[in-house]
Amino acid sequence: MLSHLLSAGRIGTLELRNRIIMAPMGSNLAEPDGHMGERIKRYYEARAAGGAGLLIVGVGAIAFPAGACNPNQVAISDDAFVPDLLEATRRIHAHGAKVAIQLQHAGKVAVRDIVDGRPMWVPSALPYHRGDLTDDLTADEMKAFVSNLTAPGAKMLYHEMTQDDIAQLVEMFASAAARAERAGFDGVELHAGHGYILSAFLSPKTNKREDEYGGSIENRARLLGEVIRASKARVGDDFPVWCRLDACEYRTTGGITVADGQRAAELAAEAGADAIHVSAYADSSSGVAFTDAPLVHEPGRYVEMTAAIKRLVDVPVIAVGRIEPEQGDALIREGRADFIAMARKLLADPELPRKLSEDRAEDVRPCIYCYTCVGQIFLSQPTCCAVNPATGREAEFTLEPCETPRNVLVIGGGPAGMEAARLAALRGHRVTLCEKDERLGGTAFFSSLVYPVNGKLVEWLETQVRKLPIELRLGCRMDLEQIRSMAPDVVLLAVGARREIPDIPGADRKTVLSGDDLRSLLTGGDPSVAARKLKLGQRAVLGVGNLLGMTERMSLTRELTRRWMPIGKRVVVIGGGLVGVELAEFLVERGRSVSVVEPGPDLASEMSPPRRWRILHELREHGVELRKNVRVERIEDDGLIVVDADETRTRMPADHIIVATGVRANLELEEAVRALGCEVHALGDCRGVGYIQGAILDAAKVARAI
Ligand SMILES: Cc1cc2nc3c(=O)[nH]c(=O)nc-3n(C[C@H](O)[C@H](O)[C@H](O)COP(=O)(O)O)c2cc1C
Repeated sequence: MLSHLLSAGRIGTLELRNRIIMAPMGSNLAEPDGHMGERIKRYYEARAAGGAGLLIVGVGAIAFPAGACNPNQVAISDDAFVPDLLEATRRIHAHGAKVAIQLQHAGKVAVRDIVDGRPMWVPSALPYHRGDLTDDLTADEMKAFVSNLTAPGAKMLYHEMTQDDIAQLVEMFASAAARAERAGFDGVELHAGHGYILSAFLSPKTNKREDEYGGSIENRARLLGEVIRASKARVGDDFPVWCRLDACEYRTTGGITVADGQRAAELAAEAGADAIHVSAYADSSSGVAFTDAPLVHEPGRYVEMTAAIKRLVDVPVIAVGRIEPEQGDALIREGRADFIAMARKLLADPELPRKLSEDRAEDVRPCIYCYTCVGQIFLSQPTCCAVNPATGREAEFTLEPCETPRNVLVIGGGPAGMEAARLAALRGHRVTLCEKDERLGGTAFFSSLVYPVNGKLVEWLETQVRKLPIELRLGCRMDLEQIRSMAPDVVLLAVGARREIPDIPGADRKTVLSGDDLRSLLTGGDPSVAARKLKLGQRAVLGVGNLLGMTERMSLTRELTRRWMPIGKRVVVIGGGLVGVELAEFLVERGRSVSVVEPGPDLASEMSPPRRWRILHELREHGVELRKNVRVERIEDDGLIVVDADETRTRMPADHIIVATGVRANLELEEAVRALGCEVHALGDCRGVGYIQGAILDAAKVARAI
């Protein structure tokens, strides 16, 4: 049991039922006029019902629409917003959770100021630096990204704040804090991180002022101190005010150092902050930097910096940044943090706290860190979650018991099939799930070889399927006759995509492997692949490896392949989509010299931009050659001939060629089953390749419709 994480705690006089905090997230789920409408209320209510001790409503705009960064941001700049805020806090409280609101002015990243042609407030006017942020966007994403800049009347202007502006800003924060108290919130978090206005003052990179607000860290933190004092002066003694700040700025020359972060925390505590929430930031013009901070990729990356701040202040410290419950529990036990904030995990499963407190950790739906949630925000869209379609659509995705239980036959045990079976069974249908292999997971199982967190989702789905009254038939390849004999009321087809080796001369050579072939070789899937593609000695080594159990084999294979794989030194991957780049990463990490050739204009377009930024950055760092708009003309004995967009031919030497293209919908069986007179629905990749997100969404829709 996670007794420390689940124990009650306090921030000032605010009592919390446990130490789990829903981290502030701008969700883009409010109404365009800044009100909290039904959609965002339901979103927070679900997290309150899920058992978190405290929810922090993300980015409450204190000067709305000025200083706002998202189109559908929550506003708290005027009393007109209070009735909806009050209704939201009332509903959250009804579930026993406490709720705070994060007060924010976006300063130099106030996109709404650009759209409306207002100058953005900054400590010092500095030249705009265009980094690599947009380099790997697709044309559609680029359009969405720049739509703010191209809106009629849009202007990108900066305004260096005067003393009067500073006084006005302090007043806006303080009156928003007072308004929050009137709106039923239990506290406020001042956003002093992530490049927004207070952190722009804290950062020596963006604050070049020569008055008392610039220079030393004491001067740079002066504004934060003034905001804390003014806010505290306007609210009751028992209303906590705290701040979130950056422990450091990664990849930022001349940015906030770890020493600055520590001193800023001390100064904030001295000014009266009731807690310090330790996040981090990174160069906002760089794509990969965003996955260092604030949307950290590396588990627990800020923990040491947080513990160092904890040693300096005597108010509670909130830790954040991909912290697993076990790690969070240990941090509290060891006195290295007092509360653990979680963001993405609570989008994936709002009920995480309740499940942990019921000792049902295995039921927590895992986040797969695909960055879909925040990719949406980046593109000015409402947030959503790849593994939990109900996130942001709570009203749409309720689960009602079925009126009449039906016999539901699910064919295919990948994510789409398992999720559909799970939901149909929860609704009260009689479900049989048939999978042709001896284990569940489909392609997602194999993908966990190269992207391990996918394995956690597969494991979760399997656990849920096995807990429910679902008849599970493994090693059961269904044909039409069997389907007819089972006389199902409805058939859900989740048989996965069809994979074709493209029609390239030489594609039948022994050195050419499909992504599936590669996985089969490494994980012991189809034995005919080894027979076709490997030499005798290689087959013998693999045979020994394959005696191990399936799941253990996956993590072991991951390790063993670092020492040996039946793959030559030079590898060319054909296809730079999600599968191709993940394979490239896997191979390069295992010492292969890898090139990726992509026929289209984009790389990894199926990934949300932040995840794409990270993986492409890492591939480039590892020296992987990434070529777009390249056609493969033919494959030869020890390489291939490719043709660039300008018709230049190049010979690329290769010992192995891996084909990661040619994945198509697979609807033949659907037609045949329909011809039997059955109600049939195709879902997941067999309907059209949509990967995990598409599979889970299809399943969620279909299982509710039957
Ligand atoms: C969709 C999304 C929106 C976010 N918006 C905010 C925000 O408005 N304010 C903020 O301080 N942090 C924001 N964050 C950062 C989170 O609060 C958190 O620090 C970060 O996601 C790391 O925590 P995690 O690993 O538990 O997700 C956001 C994160 C996500 C995923």
